[in-house]
Amino acid sequence: MSNFDFQKLIRPHLKDFQAYSSARSEFRGKADIFLDANENPYQSVGGGYFNRYPDSSNIEIRTKIAAHRKVEPNQVTVGNGSDEIIDLLFRAFCEPKEDKILICPPTYPMFKTSAILNNVGTTEVLLTPNFQLDTPNILNAIDDKTKIIFLNSPNNPTGNLLNSDDIKKILNSFNGLVVLDEAYIDFADSNSWVSQLDNYPNLFIIQTMSKAWGMAGLRLGLGFGSSDIIDILQKIKPPYNINSVSINWALKAFDLIGEKYQMVELIRSERIKLSSLLNTLPYVKKVYDSDSNFVLVKVTEPDRLYNFLLEKGIVVRNRNKLPLCEGCLRICVGNSDENKALAKALKAFE
Ligand SMILES: Cc1ncc(COP(=O)(O)O)c(C=O)c1O
Repeated sequence: MSNFDFQKLIRPHLKDFQAYSSARSEFRGKADIFLDANENPYQSVGGGYFNRYPDSSNIEIRTKIAAHRKVEPNQVTVGNGSDEIIDLLFRAFCEPKEDKILICPPTYPMFKTSAILNNVGTTEVLLTPNFQLDTPNILNAIDDKTKIIFLNSPNNPTGNLLNSDDIKKILNSFNGLVVLDEAYIDFADSNSWVSQLDNYPNLFIIQTMSKAWGMAGLRLGLGFGSSDIIDILQKIKPPYNINSVSINWALKAFDLIGEKYQMVELIRSERIKLSSLLNTLPYVKKVYDSDSNFVLVKVTEPDRLYNFLLEKGIVVRNRNKLPLCEGCLRICVGNSDENKALAKALKAFE
């Protein structure tokens, strides 16, 4: 069992931090006239009622998400995209120029980008050739300055789930925080680790409305952790980080969850078609199994294929330069028409 101690994780200057107190959060009771937040009393320019600040605690949407994932509202936070939550984790737990994080490339680039922005060092332990965690080397690479290990399952850009036993071993052996980014979990045949939160106080999970929910433009990331961790993230976040439009759409989306399940099924069936097609092409060396909404494929001439697709007006992600991904393109599963156009272009490449 890990010797995780929240008091050792939090940056010392934040231990007694008093959060910014927004005008509306100081008000208790019932009122009809609000002259406390220097807002405009009229309708917004162009119509609509966005003249009032949103609730800074985000409690309504946090309660909805908590019910959906079967946790308590004080175990949930929301960010302006998951990328804001990643940044908040650095600001809460990593002392610049002193602390470090550990990542397992190839993985989601924002973990390292956020570390650089926060002037925090990064230790890198490559995934194994079959894109799983190299647990012995990860545990060897940890020292007392390592505050956070970022894992991504299903992993971007490889597309696969990480083995649960490796994740458990790391959770049990590491005294810092294990952040598990589950942006693509809805596309996988596996349950979220959110149900394990009470068993692992050093587990923090990130999810997003940007993928399976089809709401990338609304920028809504979800964070799940112990109430201690959530409490400090709620204190240090910008007061009005989530706008009213995003909150209202997300509240509605949780009441229409069937639509999400339908889209996920559609994307999963298109993914199977795409993988099957790729497997028939002579220049394809390997199609990696995917638990996500994209497929990683190794080809003989990745740069030439990338440019060929671009000439046909189709943009995919060239991952050829990443370690373990030499020769690879990452292709997101589009809708049926987009996938037909992609298939036609792929067949024309020689
Ligand atoms: C693993 C992973 N996490 C997070 C994100 C970004 O999520 P958001 O749109 O919530 O910032 C991405 C986007 O591609 C991703 O691949």
